Amino acid sequence: MLAFFQPKVLAGRRVLITAGPTSEPIDPVRVLTNLSSGKMGYAIARAAAQAGADVCLVSGPTALPAPYGVTRVNVQSARDMLRAVEAEVARADVFVAVAAVADWRVKTTSTSKLKKVEGGGLPRLELETNPDILATVAALPDAPYCVGFAAESENLDEYAENKRRRKKLPLLVGNIAQDALGADDTVLVLYDDAGRQPLPRLPKQEAARRLVGEIARRLPLG
Ligand code: CTP
Ligand code: CA
Repeated sequence: MLAFFQPKVLAGRRVLITAGPTSEPIDPVRVLTNLSSGKMGYAIARAAAQAGADVCLVSGPTALPAPYGVTRVNVQSARDMLRAVEAEVARADVFVAVAAVADWRVKTTSTSKLKKVEGGGLPRLELETNPDILATVAALPDAPYCVGFAAESENLDEYAENKRRRKKLPLLVGNIAQDALGADDTVLVLYDDAGRQPLPRLPKQEAARRLVGEIARRLPLG
């Protein structure tokens, strides 16, 4: 009901969002993953829909229901997530990458469960690097307006600004990982060409609503 009264700052815009962790199989019963509840990405998807956007949420495994009015595409691995994003990105005006994508995957997934052997050694897992979904999208010739996230355990300003430059993003949102993981409120810091803009500590849904406003006022007219 509250949403009904919110300004429709993203009316007519298509927003593509990644959220949650990715899950990289080791064998049929084990995975390599990242810690992410998906709450922040889902809150942004809900806020963008309430702001009038047509929202597609590409989500790794989470325990959350799809927000009202949002189209969700469920994926497991980083490569699945990249494929789902590539299928949608041409239609998107804005891409917000909130997912905690596993940086590595196991090179050869075992089709049978790895067994412990009495007195035996440890399994050797060879890793390879996953594609960087955000950097891939930001490098497209007709890229949407790209927003990245960086959850850092320390040196937030330095790491966040470096990440923004490396991935060539107009806007990057930073937070301190220990503060945000699984929590219901968060402190976001926005980094763009104009510098650094911290938001106050807010419940994730309110922080998401503020962020959507900040994204909307940075979009080229269209
Ligand atoms: N990201 C992505 N694909 C990846 C890795 C990251 O799309 N394979 C996105 C995340 O969704 C986030 C941003 O890139 O928006 C930054 O992710 P982060 O893990 O903080 O950065 P990395 O470049 O992976 O660097 P590192 O983990 O070493 O800090
Ligand atoms: Ca990473």
